[in-house]
Amino acid sequence: MNIEIPLVDLKAQYRPLKAEIERAWAEVLDSMQLFLGPNTRAFEQEFAEYCGVNHAIGVSDGTQALHLALRALDIGPGDEVITVANTFIATLEAICLVGAVPVFVDIDPVTYTMDITQIESRITPRTRAILPVHLYGQCADMDPILEIARKWNLYVIEDACQAHGAEYKGRKAGSMGTLGAFSFYFSKNLGAYGEGGMVTTQDPDIARRVRILRDHGSERRYEHDSFGLNGRLDELQAAVLRIKLRCLDEWNNRRRENAAIYNTALEGCGVERPVELVGCRHVYHLYVIRTRNRDALRDHLMNKGIGTGIHYPIPCHLQPPYRKYGFGEGSLPVTEAAAREILSLPMYAELTQEQILRVAEEIRLFQEEQQEEAFAVLPAQEPVGNGHSAGLRVGD
Ligand SMILES: Cc1ncc(COP(=O)(O)O)c(C=O)c1O
Repeated sequence: MNIEIPLVDLKAQYRPLKAEIERAWAEVLDSMQLFLGPNTRAFEQEFAEYCGVNHAIGVSDGTQALHLALRALDIGPGDEVITVANTFIATLEAICLVGAVPVFVDIDPVTYTMDITQIESRITPRTRAILPVHLYGQCADMDPILEIARKWNLYVIEDACQAHGAEYKGRKAGSMGTLGAFSFYFSKNLGAYGEGGMVTTQDPDIARRVRILRDHGSERRYEHDSFGLNGRLDELQAAVLRIKLRCLDEWNNRRRENAAIYNTALEGCGVERPVELVGCRHVYHLYVIRTRNRDALRDHLMNKGIGTGIHYPIPCHLQPPYRKYGFGEGSLPVTEAAAREILSLPMYAELTQEQILRVAEEIRLFQEEQQEEAFAVLPAQEPVGNGHSAGLRVGD
């Protein structure tokens, strides 16, 4: 099947930047300074300013950003980290790489981010950190998370890998917790042409530790005072990311406009649309709808040449390596129900209004057909969310 409207279109973003990127890459290659050079230093400073933090440390990818954040806080064997299971597996990999134990809380059924009402019941004497994920481009409900962390003397590590430029009550993703971790995986709102990541923090000591750890535990060549690893951002990626960072706000605005078009066009279609928390700026890394006949809808869209995704079809706690932590089937019912019903529609800055309306029209037609068929035999679909996050509204 020929995909006419893909989930993401990276070529459309690359075309207008091609000449500038080629020039920047030629400069890097001519200089042959490939690591920890002027582009990395400049990008770290620019990204720190963008996020409103004092320090940003370029690293090799988002998984490493999370891993180094945990290492910098000395979180390790015997420690527990509270997180969610509706995330990309890397969140869990980072926790387990340091030897800590992931402790899951369920998600809010409306925003799909950490259910803040469950956190305190999961705290034990071994808990060291809360690791919320700013999923799909929207920040978790950070104020209560930060308040609980203060009360129990815990660190907060923001997984901001999907939330470059997202805001929570005027504060940028990655600027609120003890540390923030970003990924520049190619399909992210800010994506490299290879791998890349960033750790953000306000704390100079923590920043220094991350810098040392990402470069083999070394501040001076061949002197390794701590047990580190190779986790550096490379200059070619830093050069691309500097160019793209200048476009990020405009791209995010266009994503928001596209989400608004979807929201209007999908009204009354019998699918749940994304919800933006009051006072938050969702940057729609993904535009995720929800419907009980998700798989059939996905097949229908595929047959019509429309690409979709599922983020994520199997929650982390049910993936084989993580079952040993004791969260079996049914332990996170909201997460598990969402995994069966969520569907990511095409979303990127260059998506046109015409394309969005076409996707929405196909969903409408499919839903109408389904309803006609189901009317005689099935009970009507009930709304899924219980809306216990305060003050929600449909994103505009
Ligand atoms: C929520 C989340 N956490 C962590 C990561 C890991 O980032 P990376 O792929 O750059 O290692 C990603 C992205 O891939 C992500 O979406």
